[in-house]
Amino acid sequence: MNAKIVLITGANSGIGKAAAIKFAREGYYVIMACRNLDKGRLVQRYIIETTKNNQVDLLELDVASLDAIRRFCNEYEKKYDRLDILIHNAAYLQHGVKEYQFSQDHIELVFATNAVGPFFLTYLLRGMLIKSENPKILNACTVSIRHYFVKNRKIEFDNLRGEYKNSRSYNTYRKYGDSKMALLLLTFKMSEILKKSGITVNAIQIPAIKISKNTRRQFKSVWRLSAEIQNAFGAKPESIANTYFDICTSKALNNISGKLINSKLEVMKPSHYTHGLLQSIRQLLDMGVYPRYADDADNIESVWEVCSKMTQADFEGVYKGE
Ligand SMILES: NC(=O)c1ccc[n+]([C@@H]2O[C@H](COP(=O)([O-])OP(=O)(O)OC[C@H]3O[C@@H](n4cnc5c(N)ncnc54)[C@H](OP(=O)(O)O)[C@@H]3O)[C@@H](O)[C@H]2O)c1
Repeated sequence: MNAKIVLITGANSGIGKAAAIKFAREGYYVIMACRNLDKGRLVQRYIIETTKNNQVDLLELDVASLDAIRRFCNEYEKKYDRLDILIHNAAYLQHGVKEYQFSQDHIELVFATNAVGPFFLTYLLRGMLIKSENPKILNACTVSIRHYFVKNRKIEFDNLRGEYKNSRSYNTYRKYGDSKMALLLLTFKMSEILKKSGITVNAIQIPAIKISKNTRRQFKSVWRLSAEIQNAFGAKPESIANTYFDICTSKALNNISGKLINSKLEVMKPSHYTHGLLQSIRQLLDMGVYPRYADDADNIESVWEVCSKMTQADFEGVYKGE
């Protein structure tokens, strides 16, 4: 196969769909990894018709389930002999949910989908990525991690399996922020480990964008209203899809790895601001910096250890054994 292969999780709606269209238009072989094949098939057909690129495959993947990830990777390896670009785009945020929800593996569902799933999928696909000439991984992060500019905000590591479900209330936004901060921390360590295989790993900080009709429909009434407000001001999914494309293909960013990149394609840095009201406001508005929480080696190690334990994946062992 001559065309480069890009795999996009959650490619049936929003930014993932727009990214699948963009890569298909640019002549890539696109693999849509979706949990709902009925929805996925409609979008697959639409992409093939509008881009005139018939190299668009659809494979079933539920990123919240370790077994489903294993099945997906087995199927992938039967059909393909390499992977050039892996985009962890799928994410779960159910607005307004107040009850704890767990994955089949008994991991808090938002964390399972947005952090543990991408970690495990990368682990199982690393052999396919190594076979590419210029392999790349992109993780979809969010401006929500900016809540960690608040001094005492931390990932709730002790409650990832609902250990405190009877005494701590459930806040879906907090869980979303925790999971995306975890994904950023994983980006940094994964980049270090995969460097020797030539795989670059970066994350994109996505601002508020227009929310798809498909997703809006699932919101409860008051959240649907807030989505309408976000849609009035947010960027179009296509603009972020173009940024996905640029991060994965531009020559200027080709050797960049282990970085958080904003929607203007700027490589972000940990915040250097000191405390004080004015400084806090300045760092919040400065889209070139991210919270120092993400620059802390202990936090990086903690999330790495948690995901390694939950999945039994031993990235470092694999490379030590080589
Ligand atoms: N929208 C924003 O304002 C915004 C802001 C910052 C960051 N982001 C990030 O950007 C990325 C795309 O967001 P979006 O707004 O385009 O979202 P979206 O339209 O809601 O699409 C999310 C996609 O993820 C899929 N998904 C959810 N759980 C899954 C699972 N367990 N297994 C497989 N697929 C799953 C959904 O599939 P179904 O259709 O089957 O549900 C859907 O295809 C996400 O990582 C999100 O966190 C978005």
